[in-house]
Amino acid sequence: MIPRLRVDSKAGGRPVVLPVFQTPGDPVWPRRAAAWPKSLLTGARDDGFTGKIGETHLISGPNAQASEKILLVGLGKKESADGQSLRLFGAGAYRRLRSTRWTTARFLIADDVIPAAEAARAVAEGVGLAAYRFDKHQSEKTGGDLLKEIVFDAPTPDLREAMEGVRLGTLWAEAVACARDLINEPPSHKTPVTLGRWAQQLAGGRLRVRVYDKRALQKMGAGALLGVNRGSAHPPVLVHLRYTPAGKPKRRIAFVGKGITFDSGGLSLKPADGMMTMKYDMAGAATVFSLFKILPRLAPDIEVHGVAPVTENMPGPDAYKPGDVVTALNGKTIEVLNTDAEGRVVLADALTFATRLDVEEIVDVATLTGAATVALGKNIAACLSNTPRLTERLRAAADAAGEKLWPLPLETTYREHLRSKVADLKNIGNPGEAGTIIGGLFLEEFVAGKPWAHIDMAGVGWNAAGTPTSAPGATGAVVRTFLNYLWSLHLGQRREATA
Ligand code: BES
Ligand code: MN
Ligand code: ZN
Repeated sequence: MIPRLRVDSKAGGRPVVLPVFQTPGDPVWPRRAAAWPKSLLTGARDDGFTGKIGETHLISGPNAQASEKILLVGLGKKESADGQSLRLFGAGAYRRLRSTRWTTARFLIADDVIPAAEAARAVAEGVGLAAYRFDKHQSEKTGGDLLKEIVFDAPTPDLREAMEGVRLGTLWAEAVACARDLINEPPSHKTPVTLGRWAQQLAGGRLRVRVYDKRALQKMGAGALLGVNRGSAHPPVLVHLRYTPAGKPKRRIAFVGKGITFDSGGLSLKPADGMMTMKYDMAGAATVFSLFKILPRLAPDIEVHGVAPVTENMPGPDAYKPGDVVTALNGKTIEVLNTDAEGRVVLADALTFATRLDVEEIVDVATLTGAATVALGKNIAACLSNTPRLTERLRAAADAAGEKLWPLPLETTYREHLRSKVADLKNIGNPGEAGTIIGGLFLEEFVAGKPWAHIDMAGVGWNAAGTPTSAPGATGAVVRTFLNYLWSLHLGQRREATA
């Protein structure tokens, strides 16, 4: 539960959270804390507190009343401080507060590195991200609900903007929590039809949702999605969400997300270890759905479509087999040589579906290849695009979110790796060679030349250990990148037309 976050520069009392910069010698106050006695820092430093990002140090006032408690929280070095430092400051403060019995706290918002409003937004986001827990299947909840409210003490002239910042930061965190909930849910609790129903309940107002069931997919000719589904006892769905703004849209965009609710590998079965986390193979779809969870409240002047092909990949009696040929929605035939390369197969149909919508650009997100983790590890997502400017703008959006996105080339000389002897293309390239690029090249065959970007989030979507801003399990990565991107389009920054 995210505590209630509000902005009030006059709320005195309460336990207070003070930001502190790190320097080689003494930790130092930001401008906003100048009125507090320096001696607090000397004592803290003697106790070993340095002001590292997210580091905390609790001090009791002389009378040890709750209102005299002070929590020092590090912002790191001032020279390198940025939005991410403030997110980690918020996260560190929240996590320390959760282990106290305090019901309220007052955060002093430092405006030394970025303006107070943006700082308040980043701190709110950090608190919201750190507040997430997945305990719905545990009888004993992990607690932390004592903290009911946090007051952001921002400089008076910036109050209104700070309020808007806190609103956005909270919304962003809510979307991430939504994605994490969907991804963390056990695979048999989120069958394609169940997920379709979940998406359906988002409908209302400017948000329309259509769920194509198995019969509709057969009629449509979505042979690729249906092919992957054949080994599963649960029918597939294709979910289409559409948000229409009140006025004329500044842009029309489609997000497409891979929705494999469990990837066993199919007949090209994964080893047990490789299957353990494969409930997260619908993280792309969850990313897309979570945008729509908050879009009506964000209300950008952008027409936004979401498309998700949803199925299990299972080795049931009628499973598609290595050597099978399926016909995708656009008529192209695919020779399936490895049933574990199923993501690109279901996305083939979903991308074709997206090209038939009246949109200017398509962005897909998928846990597509283990090779993405080999290439870039668990902190950087791969971006492959036929439109360099789109990559640049997505990277800027990722940077602003404290997320990392790195381009990989759609190397044309590798296209021949996908050449099939019996169909238009095969679903794998040469084993061990440029797996993530091959995945991208395959998808490119289904975007009909439209401006498109593919984000491979296999590495970043799951973190077993957890981080200061992410509980163990689903990370909700890429959600805030997409929200920042949408919001920047709404604000009209970089509104150049995509060719
Ligand atoms: N869902 C997996 C990719 C994946 C692997 C995501 C590990 C997260 C962690 C995908 O469907 C897959 O199995 N890809 C294969 C492709 C290969 C057969 C060409 C892979 O990466 O091994
Ligand atoms: Mn697979
Ligand atoms: Zn998969």
